[in-house]
Amino acid sequence: MEKKELIAVSPESAFHEGLEDVIAAESSICLIDGKNSRLAYRGYDIHELAEHSNFEETAYLLLLGKLPTARELEDFKAKIAAERELPEGFVKLLSSFPKNANPMAFLRSAVSTLAFFDSESEDKSPEANFRKAIRLIAKTPLIVAYFERMRQGKELIAPQKDASWSGAKNFLYMLRGKEASEVENQMLDKYYVLLTEHDLNASTFTARTVASTQSDIYSAISGAVGTLKGDLHGSANTRTMESLIEIDDVSKVESFVEQSLAQKKKFMGFGHRIYKGPDPRASDLRKMAKALADANPGQAKWYAISEKLEKLVWEKKKLNCNVDFYSASVLYILGIPVDLFTTLFAISRMAGWTAHFLEQSSHNRLIRPVSLYTGATHQAYVPIQKRS
Ligand code: COA
Repeated sequence: MEKKELIAVSPESAFHEGLEDVIAAESSICLIDGKNSRLAYRGYDIHELAEHSNFEETAYLLLLGKLPTARELEDFKAKIAAERELPEGFVKLLSSFPKNANPMAFLRSAVSTLAFFDSESEDKSPEANFRKAIRLIAKTPLIVAYFERMRQGKELIAPQKDASWSGAKNFLYMLRGKEASEVENQMLDKYYVLLTEHDLNASTFTARTVASTQSDIYSAISGAVGTLKGDLHGSANTRTMESLIEIDDVSKVESFVEQSLAQKKKFMGFGHRIYKGPDPRASDLRKMAKALADANPGQAKWYAISEKLEKLVWEKKKLNCNVDFYSASVLYILGIPVDLFTTLFAISRMAGWTAHFLEQSSHNRLIRPVSLYTGATHQAYVPIQKRS
């Protein structure tokens, strides 16, 4: 006879839906003080890094735990520049991927495929993992630029291996087929610095979980890319720009807000699991969006719409905008196609993900939480003929 008990089998510790407030790792990479809206990489305040550092120096800081000397930085940049190439067979494979693929799906599969072209892919030593981290940081922007040119049927632009070229400058060059202005290169570089690390966000947690099984870095990073693809995570920048395009004019912001409230739709680019006050990155991105709008009067409306939307959502819902909100108009004015925005997030987050992979691997314990079981506990097996 079927014996069915619907009781929750509770583990010793409390249940935290969505792992909210659960401490799942020890880390010295990123400090987030959500109450005081403070973010620091290895103890260095994000505003200072955005102002004075650059992506390569910040990546060094994340991966190696200290700011580099001038010589160490030169050496690090040279290592990245030397990896700015994609194997011919790999590019051939990429060209066979569907041209209408979702850009993040393309990147996820490309990162996974890249492992086949790395003779060290299964070498788990810390030295090989570090080299692979550099490879991923160097090659990801190339994959994205090639994807964009391939789907547009345009000729592929060879990367610049000159170490004096920043990753941001090389990416815009490969995307456009000509050099961007210094201001644009610097804006993208600053965007990378602001987005490159954020503790145990969902994609980094995925990367650490994969690392904890002693799987390889390509598996961890392709998992992270797939996680970042979600609308509640990295794709919020694309969804935000879609909202701005839907609004189209500053006079229509109010009706957009009213309609979204009536339909109980989420405002993309607003809210955060950790920051209940302002997201500290948003103020830097707001300034960047304003500077770009001022320099490009034809595109100024995107900033005006964003500013009004931010104000109204605060008034109506007391929600602050997050990192993705002003990222949207920054990337749009930089000429990045809207559906490519999240791949830019992935390019920058690569340093954070790989730093966490190295840290997890250096003092590993398998990540294996438990669920709060809410199903039936004792059921008698019924032969298939007797089931109704
Ligand atoms: N628009 C409208 N309401 C929102 C909201 C948003 N962007 N973000 C949160 N809220 C509301 C929720 O509806 C919920 O209200 P309720 O308690 O009345 O149901 C409350 O605020 C708490 O939100 P919740 O979704 O439980 O918080 P969370 O910590 O699980 O979610 C996010 C955080 C980021 C997933 C959430 O804010 C969100 O979906 N934002 C939009 C997507 C986005 O911008 N993501 C990028 C994050 S950097």
